[in-house]
Amino acid sequence: MQELINIIKDEVTKAFVECGYGEKYGYVTISNRPDLCEYQCNGALACAKEAHKAPIMIANEVCEKLQGNELFASVEACNPGFLNMKISEEYLADYTNKMLADDRLGLDEVEEKKTIMIDYGGPNVAKPLHVGHLRSAVIGESIKRINRFMGNEVIGDVHLGDWGLQMGLIITELRERQPDLVYFDPEYKGEYPKEAPFTISELEEIYPTASGKSKEDEAYKERAMAATYELQHGNPGYTALLQHILDVSVTDLKRNYENLKVSFDLWKGESDADPYIPDMVEKMKADGFAYVSEGALVVDVAEETDTKEIPPCMILKSDGAALYNTTDLATLIWREADYHPDEVIYVVDKRQELHFVQVFRCAKKTGIVPDSTELKFVGFGTMNGKDGKPFKTRDGGVMRLENLISDINEKMYSKILENDTMSQEEAEETSKTVALAAIKYGDLSNQASKDYIFDIDRFTSFEGNTGPYILYTIVRMKSILAKYEQSGKSVDTGVIGAPETESQKALMLELARFNTSIRNAYEETAPHKICAYIYELANAFNKFYHETKILGEEDEKKQAGYIKLLQLTKQTLEVCIDLLGFEAPERM
Ligand code: ARG
Repeated sequence: MQELINIIKDEVTKAFVECGYGEKYGYVTISNRPDLCEYQCNGALACAKEAHKAPIMIANEVCEKLQGNELFASVEACNPGFLNMKISEEYLADYTNKMLADDRLGLDEVEEKKTIMIDYGGPNVAKPLHVGHLRSAVIGESIKRINRFMGNEVIGDVHLGDWGLQMGLIITELRERQPDLVYFDPEYKGEYPKEAPFTISELEEIYPTASGKSKEDEAYKERAMAATYELQHGNPGYTALLQHILDVSVTDLKRNYENLKVSFDLWKGESDADPYIPDMVEKMKADGFAYVSEGALVVDVAEETDTKEIPPCMILKSDGAALYNTTDLATLIWREADYHPDEVIYVVDKRQELHFVQVFRCAKKTGIVPDSTELKFVGFGTMNGKDGKPFKTRDGGVMRLENLISDINEKMYSKILENDTMSQEEAEETSKTVALAAIKYGDLSNQASKDYIFDIDRFTSFEGNTGPYILYTIVRMKSILAKYEQSGKSVDTGVIGAPETESQKALMLELARFNTSIRNAYEETAPHKICAYIYELANAFNKFYHETKILGEEDEKKQAGYIKLLQLTKQTLEVCIDLLGFEAPERM
């Protein structure tokens, strides 16, 4: 469906052209003075110089042309040269009825479908998920859903951190504790055991212990570095251990992500890039891109237009070990070979921006990806506590994501028990659903690149710009619709009528903005724009609800129309929250 704002723009543009002015002056925006009008055009002001006429004269001419147009209830020219427009009530009703009849609510898919890979999540195996991983998962999941909804082919990849020193550390610590394991026997030729020699909780203890030791004990650190090197050069026992670490870790990670309603199509990791590294390095050397500098192998990526220094991209350390750059570059090799993506989006902490600038430039320069591939970095800010410092536990430690979530679930649970007479079981389920909305909306409603304060009290509130408020609004509509049906009436009979009150018209105007809002969020990779939209929409609905008798309306036709309007509002909000990655309960 064509977007309402574009329909208006086309009409206004036509009028400008018919009056002898340039097309570009017909630009229309949503009014910033809703008390005066709904849409406005300031083109007459811009056009005045070229036309050698007072802006108001131009506005008057265009206004004259638009009189009687079925699209508008009124068009006025105002000093010094604004065009103020109000949309026709009948036209608006017609538009919203068309939305209701369309299973995409009036939002067309993109014309040229792209293949898009999204790299998000980025957990490190053997380390528990902490709050820092929350943002990547939540934002990435939403970007994935938005892109898919727009009709693109989308592949989400978790890109596990499974190839650095942390692997060498775990192997070293295991070796200290259980030197007799077959994995450490260089003579061993048999098959390695199927069972991992550790559980997830052991693994989660082993890593921090090893990491602590390596900071104090230089020899230990060297052993860990040597183990990393050997692992990266195919030591069979270490390779088998890596597989165990991965299996145990990934099972645990999947469970955690499932609770967050975050999912991935691919569970690849840095280690999957390893087989591509030797050829990649050889080619970079042969093509004259990579050279040795202070022992390390590097590729220059600085550009003349740089305003700050972009250091060379390091491909191999002097000991020949691969780095974070190396795995990211080699990962692009298989991504290109297997999926040939038009776009790769990385949802990663914004402090890693320089790394990605280097990787992207190096990948293009060395021909790993074609020039046409768009490599996009969506860097997110830090999640802070109320003190404005990175979010910590009460005793100052790193907050495990699991604990954070269960804290919020509990808080929600007591709130919900206070409110209603649900069974304990339903209250538990409901509080999980609402808690997830609180967390995700709390995160997504901020522009991703900004730091934000994770304020549990605010996020879990049923009032204000929060996830629970949006859900509460949906639940309210569900309950009205259910009551309407219980009274023996069918929700399928009515048609949305021309609005009779200001609040009804305001609601319908918000609904009609759905396609524009989602398309904007898509084009700008900005889920927060969907949050902003649904907050406005929920507010518009609640205002209408407070001013209108719906179930008490005696005129049945009018009532059936209200019910349709409710249905459309509910569906629109539901589609939007699905794009954000959460859902509404039946009651709350
Ligand atoms: N594992 C990394 C970290 O925790 C994030 C990975 C991001 N993705 C990537 N392709 N580098 O910092």
